[in-house]
Amino acid sequence: MTTSIILELHGKHSSLVLEFSPSEAPLWRYWGKKLHSRAKMHAPYTLFNQRAARSVQPTNLEFDQPLSTCVGLGLGWFSTPSLAIHRGGKDCFVQFNAARYEQSHTGDVQTLMFHLTDSIAQIEVLQVLSLNTKTDVLLMKTTLHNISPQGTEPLDVQWLAAGTLPLDTQCSTVQSYKGQWANEFLVCRDALLQGTWRRDTRRGRNGHDQFAGSLALTPESNLHHGLTYGMHLAWSGNHTQLIERLPDGGLQLQMGEWLAPGEIRLASGEQCTTPELVATCSPQGSNGVAQSFHAEARSRLKWGKLDGSDGATMRSRPVHINTWEAIYFDHKPEVLLDLATQSAAIGVERFVLDDGWFPARSDDHAGLGDWWPDAKKYPNGLKPLALEVERLGMEFGLWVEPEMVNPDSDLYRNHPDWALQINGRPMQTGRFQLVLDMARRDVQDYLFEKMDVLLTETPIKYLKWDMNRDLSAAIGQAGHAAYHSNSQGFYDLLIRIRTAHPHVEIESCASGGARIDMGVLPYVQRYWASDTNDALSRIGVQRGFTQFLPPEVMGAHVGPTPAHTTGRTQALPFRAAVALQGHFGIEFDVRTMDTNEKSELATWIDLYKSIRHVVHEGRTWQGDCGDGVVWQAYAPKIDVDATEDDGQIVRRLIVMVYRLVPIGHIQTPALRLPMLQAENQYNVRRIDPQAGKVFHHTSPYAVFSQIEAGTFESSGEWLAQSGLPLPRMKAEQAMVLELNLV
Ligand code: GLA
Repeated sequence: MTTSIILELHGKHSSLVLEFSPSEAPLWRYWGKKLHSRAKMHAPYTLFNQRAARSVQPTNLEFDQPLSTCVGLGLGWFSTPSLAIHRGGKDCFVQFNAARYEQSHTGDVQTLMFHLTDSIAQIEVLQVLSLNTKTDVLLMKTTLHNISPQGTEPLDVQWLAAGTLPLDTQCSTVQSYKGQWANEFLVCRDALLQGTWRRDTRRGRNGHDQFAGSLALTPESNLHHGLTYGMHLAWSGNHTQLIERLPDGGLQLQMGEWLAPGEIRLASGEQCTTPELVATCSPQGSNGVAQSFHAEARSRLKWGKLDGSDGATMRSRPVHINTWEAIYFDHKPEVLLDLATQSAAIGVERFVLDDGWFPARSDDHAGLGDWWPDAKKYPNGLKPLALEVERLGMEFGLWVEPEMVNPDSDLYRNHPDWALQINGRPMQTGRFQLVLDMARRDVQDYLFEKMDVLLTETPIKYLKWDMNRDLSAAIGQAGHAAYHSNSQGFYDLLIRIRTAHPHVEIESCASGGARIDMGVLPYVQRYWASDTNDALSRIGVQRGFTQFLPPEVMGAHVGPTPAHTTGRTQALPFRAAVALQGHFGIEFDVRTMDTNEKSELATWIDLYKSIRHVVHEGRTWQGDCGDGVVWQAYAPKIDVDATEDDGQIVRRLIVMVYRLVPIGHIQTPALRLPMLQAENQYNVRRIDPQAGKVFHHTSPYAVFSQIEAGTFESSGEWLAQSGLPLPRMKAEQAMVLELNLV
């Protein structure tokens, strides 16, 4: 029997077990619910290695290849390999024949590094796998090194999985996301039957129709319970995610960057590294997965210097006004000043000047690339407006779209070769614009200089960084596909800007939600989740978003009514209650409101300010009462060093309840809050500005009167198991409750 070593990593709720031997890639034994005794105590792990415990059927190879961390093509592995490579059509088969590992433990993170060699294919692979023992987040990335002698053909890399992971064989469904502009994060559920479930994006960004992440669900998985897996690729460009049912009945998960033919070619001695796969598994359903992802995202956020040397931490997320749906391209300084004055008066803290401030930008046909103020609209530049905004007590923010150029711009007229185009093929514009070749140093220098001048000359504290088209004709200077180099160039430029201006916050926007991922997270502090400000559409978008990223980085605005993207009309309380779920803002012309409406909006802004520290730093749960009522709940952050039991105690909870469609039952289903501790007693009261305003036919409902009066109390057990009776709300009504431990 071959000698193998069992390697194991244990988190708070999950464990990983691998079998290592020095002559092959490590074999996966387990990734799932936490094993409370060491795996070594379990007889099968020590008595039998993986091969000894597998039967071989007569017509198969006597060598049966189980799932490893890096499965190669063609030598007993008949499913999707973890890498697809060749040298001028040769050396495509891979089977590692030497391996060594290192194990380390720094802080909360346990790391395994696997050094794998295939001396025949002449490649080396380094896999880094680390588990955060507090958050259960597993990170994986892979480096491929071409070790062939000088003078041999380069190694073409068609596919290199960031990670290859086993899923519980019981996983029966994968939940991913589809959508389009202004309607992202629509949930898709596909059965995991035979064969391969796979989604790719080739748009050079995640796209509205994809998100680089999904959940694998067991039959027991729901929002609150059951073994659930989550995976996400931390990369802002192309991606592939696949789950495959293996011939042995198991399931493998692979994620990585989708590569165009010829895009990555390694000369002798060269290497490439994948983006990071961020994965987790939780016995507490998709909410458990979300909480792990939120912790990971928060660890990546940088609030000041990128190296963290200034110790900057998150400030309260300021209330925004964004000018886009208020005035579009129609910039008039006196209107903007009036808008700013009236916004400040209702409690707005940051004024963001959207598209339309630079030359020739009276619509979206021209101007991108010419990053200086339009002398007609702003004869003295942007500084006077920015200073006025500051005088009113707000920060000034500015919209830019650096990666793009309109053919009708000075930049394009001077440098037509800077745009991604293919000689001989027709120019393909999208929103009348082309994409710059972000891998070029001269392009980066130009953009850095323009942004630097803006940020130096004007007191700009925030950039809304947009990206309004897919990449096509993505061929770089050397004639190779340039998706990867463009995404990297985007990061490089962000790093330069953040390094020069560490206290300028940046928002990632791509026509709303087409570039949302953890790859860009070290450089940005906010995402524009969607171009829709329709509150009903936003509920779905925001639930998808917060499955992966925390509320404080999710831009959420009270938009105009009727909504510009859908034409639907929603009352202010509903629009405001939906925007409370994230980083709150306003995106309509507040000058059109009368005094009563303004003071109503101001009360919602006050509510946001009073709960943002809970919503933005703590734990989040999503829930569904049934019959068209959904909720979001937020508890203050816990001490991560607390014991497992202490860590779960909910002392305060903010619950936002939304009725989406008209009531279908005489009684609304109760609000069950499974995160509450049975033995605790909670006071429940309504805290939104509508409190005291009677819902539809609720007057005889005594419990609700107590909730409105703040005198209602119940045990955690009752609230978790039986639930809080809810009033009859009309469609598109919302309320906010606060629970406090008595
Ligand atoms: C994109 C953004 C919008 C707005 C416009 C401006 O569509 O998503 O929020 O900034 O561009 O052109």
